[in-house]
Amino acid sequence: MAFSSKTLSFSLGLWFSLLVLWSPSTCSASAITFLPLESGKVSLALYYESLCPYSANFVVNYLVKLFEDDLISIVDLKLVPWGNAKLRGNDTFDCQHGPSECLLNTVEACAIETWPALNDHFPFIYCVESLVYEHKYPQWESCYEKLGLNSTLIAECYNSGHGKELELKYAAETNALQPPHQYVPWVVVDGQPLYEDYENFLSYVCNAYNGTAMLKGCNEYLNTIQMAGEKPNDPVACKEGKMPALFGRIRSTLTSWM
Ligand SMILES: *[C@@H]1O[C@H](CO)[C@@H](O)[C@H](O)[C@H]1NC(C)=O
Ligand SMILES: *[C@@H]1O[C@H](CO)[C@@H](O)[C@H](O)[C@H]1NC(C)=O
Ligand SMILES: *[C@@H]1O[C@H](CO)[C@@H](O)[C@H](O)[C@H]1NC(C)=O
Repeated sequence: MAFSSKTLSFSLGLWFSLLVLWSPSTCSASAITFLPLESGKVSLALYYESLCPYSANFVVNYLVKLFEDDLISIVDLKLVPWGNAKLRGNDTFDCQHGPSECLLNTVEACAIETWPALNDHFPFIYCVESLVYEHKYPQWESCYEKLGLNSTLIAECYNSGHGKELELKYAAETNALQPPHQYVPWVVVDGQPLYEDYENFLSYVCNAYNGTAMLKGCNEYLNTIQMAGEKPNDPVACKEGKMPALFGRIRSTLTSWM
């Protein structure tokens, strides 16, 4: 799918400028019509870790489809960058793909908090995960410039230890999952994990959607959920204890942050 981060940032940027133009100070009644009713939204949660290649693939090639045909308007998306990291003591943790992954999980957690609107933090996370997908993640800081984002608050969040607190909160959320997550990406729609069928998440979202507005974007996804057959034994995912080898190599380039 040809959907570059440039296109994404442009279209999200455009959307955002429209929102700003219609901000409450200029037109309070109309502004409400821009936002779908909270109650009708389908909850979609992604539990992932920044350096898992399957997480990156999911964000870059699948999750991004939410921004086509306005599917995002029916979804309440929650991103949880913790994955298979492990708590060690009260306030330290180890990440599956090493310290670089802890760094980028924390940076992404800081981005979510610093820019709470999805239209602000998603392009950044998409950009970082695109670099992970292309094996170029040491260049992650280029995402600030590419998207015109100010890195100061993220650096403060990370360096002050606040980012770590955010990660510990995500750890608690991930560890409280019922049923527990088995691997990442772990995609949950309205509380139900999709297991191996996670790439098909839009079918679950569209089928779960109760809204009266028929979404054009949902047409191709409705009623396309496969009958649960034999589950594949080896989902395309990062399981604990299995680590793709190529990541250790470029870890050292990030040490200035750690
Ligand atoms: C859809 O409708 C059912 C039954 O009215 C309700 O239980 C469920 O919470 C609704 N789901 C959403 C996402 O609004
Ligand atoms: C961990 O937290 C518990 C309860 O807050 C505390 O009693 C304990 O001393 C802490 N351990 C460390 C290593 O900080
Ligand atoms: C970035 O944000 C910081 C803190 O809000 C601010 O002091 C600084 O001037 C900003 N930098 C730019 C280039 O906008």
